[in-house]
Amino acid sequence: MSAENIIKNDHDPISLREINNNFSLVHTATLSPDAEHAVGFFSGKKVPLEMHRVATVKRLYLKDVDTRAASIAGAGYNTFLLDNRDVFLDMLTDSGVNSMSIFQQAAMQTADDAYAGSATYYRLCDALDYVFGKKYFLPAHQGRACENILARTFVRAGSAVITNYHFTTTKAHIMNNGGEVIEVVPPTSLDPEYRAPFKGDMDIELLASETTRLGADNIAFVRIEAGTNLIGGQPVSLANMRAVSAFCREKGLMLVFDASLLADNLYFIKTREEAEHGKSVREISLEIASLMDVIYFSARKLGCARGGGIITNDVRLYDLMKPLVPLYEGFLTYGGMSVREMEAIAIGLLETCDFHVISQTAIFVEALVDLLGARGVPCVVPAGGLGCHVDAMRFVDHVPQDQYRAGALAAAVYLAGGIRGMERGTLSEERNPDGTDHLSCMELLRLALPKRAFTLSQLEFVADRIGWLYEHRELIGGLTFVEEPKQMRFFLGRLAPVGDWPEKLTAAFRKDMPSLL
Ligand code: F0G
Repeated sequence: MSAENIIKNDHDPISLREINNNFSLVHTATLSPDAEHAVGFFSGKKVPLEMHRVATVKRLYLKDVDTRAASIAGAGYNTFLLDNRDVFLDMLTDSGVNSMSIFQQAAMQTADDAYAGSATYYRLCDALDYVFGKKYFLPAHQGRACENILARTFVRAGSAVITNYHFTTTKAHIMNNGGEVIEVVPPTSLDPEYRAPFKGDMDIELLASETTRLGADNIAFVRIEAGTNLIGGQPVSLANMRAVSAFCREKGLMLVFDASLLADNLYFIKTREEAEHGKSVREISLEIASLMDVIYFSARKLGCARGGGIITNDVRLYDLMKPLVPLYEGFLTYGGMSVREMEAIAIGLLETCDFHVISQTAIFVEALVDLLGARGVPCVVPAGGLGCHVDAMRFVDHVPQDQYRAGALAAAVYLAGGIRGMERGTLSEERNPDGTDHLSCMELLRLALPKRAFTLSQLEFVADRIGWLYEHRELIGGLTFVEEPKQMRFFLGRLAPVGDWPEKLTAAFRKDMPSLL
């Protein structure tokens, strides 16, 4: 098959009717029949209301505290290394574990299993065109595979990528290709207590001064990350995206958008940015896309399935990246993804245009932040997307930072409730060239809320156990590496406690919680 066959011709933006004709699923829920407003309670109580019903469930098991103590020790005090059967509430990530809709599951049955030219590929192209208005699509097996392709194509030794804030895998790919990452959020965005609606916004003056300092020719691209992950799932405003885009166009810089966390970000633009209140979610998405040269995404997050891809309207950029897809991913019409997942992504993307689909994570994160806040537990505010971010810098301020405050807190939270969170702090950083720890400016324990997976009573449990832990926080001690991989050590590194604090914490739990659960 020639490349021309898989590139669609110029056409008017695709309509919902065309999309539904293709999918034979007339009710893909792309247009929410209810108004695009949060549902209020007569009592005035703020309750995160589920706008879905449970269709399939998974039984969960809560093991006793002694078993949990043994499990976390066996996992080298690294929550990535826990067996999921030992976990009660898995809040490690939302990646690939969001709940699917019945329409996604139905669509999976319609997948066209072909190595080349699958009808599924064209359906996914149409869905992407509907949501983003971009014609050229390069499929990839997940988000970091897109980052590999982007970095190999555009990053050279000595070049820089300017971004609002880095993500771990993004930075690793840029550095692997000899580049450096420059971050341009204002310092206030790194302050967990600083309240602003769009803490993911770039500081435009900083962007301009860094561009002058580096020289536009040495900048591989500028990257905006939606729902800025490592600073607490904090969104970027549409106004800021417009300003960054105008700056990049003026300077001739390529603008790349990481849309992995776009769903939450769309919700925040619609609800927090006054000028955008009247626009539909899709209108906002189309406008964002029009500002960007290249968009990539992890479909383990955006689209609630498993996969990824890069889209653009610039055939020159498409042609530069295209050869790497068959080399690293798979043929151009599947890129390492299962066609079943591609069908699910297509529907998941359409459902991202539904306000009552994208609101769910944000309102549940806010509920958890409020529940924890009521117990005095310090969290990143305002509540962002993706999950609740507990501020370990303050929670365990007696633990030295090079003994991994957030990592120690993650281990303690598992011990206290079988709750698996993810360290996002010094442990997730690479060491300095001289071998010392690069102390992160934030020490966060992320409690991810996979989309439409957990209930309010489960959040009450989390707040109860972490509230208990907060009252016993002086018992929590530090961690030290026993086995430390050179790159991305947080994934597979093994640690040991400094002292016998896990035993002391377990003993306190036994005393306070006679059921041992
Ligand atoms: N960009 C962002 C903003 C991400 O959050 C992720 C993944 C990626 C890129 C990479 O995508 O995992 O599909 O290769 N974040 C996951 C997380 C791992 O748990 O936050 P991927």
